[in-house]
Amino acid sequence: MPNKNKQRLFPVCTQEELNVLNSKEFILYQNNRPYFGLVVQKDDEIFAYTNSCPHQGRMLQWKKDRFLNKDASRIMCAAHGAMFELHTGICDAGPCVGKRLKPLRVVRENSVIQIEL
Ligand code: FES
Repeated sequence: MPNKNKQRLFPVCTQEELNVLNSKEFILYQNNRPYFGLVVQKDDEIFAYTNSCPHQGRMLQWKKDRFLNKDASRIMCAAHGAMFELHTGICDAGPCVGKRLKPLRVVRENSVIQIEL
C-alpha cells in the first residue's frame, strides 16, 4: 500500500548557484500552493529553512537570494534584524530570541541541492 505521507526530494539549485552568495531562495509548488524556502552554506555544510521569520512571518531576504549578515555568520531578517544561527536556525539576537526557523532536510547529490518536503 503506498504511503501518502512519504516525503519527496525536490531540486532547488546547484552547488555553483549557491556558491555565488552562499544563500539562495527557492519556491516549490505543492498542490498549486507555493512553498518558500532558503538554503545557506557555511564551509562545506548546507542548511535549509522555510522562508518565514518567526517574529512576524515575513520573508527574510534583503534582496533576491540575500539572507546573510555582513560577515555571513548569521541569517538576518530584513524586516527587523532578527539574527539566526546558520546551523540551527535559532534566533540569538533581535525581536524573537529563542525562536527558530523551520528546518528542512537537505540532500546534496553530485552538485544538485535537494530539499525534502
Ligand atoms: S519579521 Fe523578522 S525580525 Fe520582524
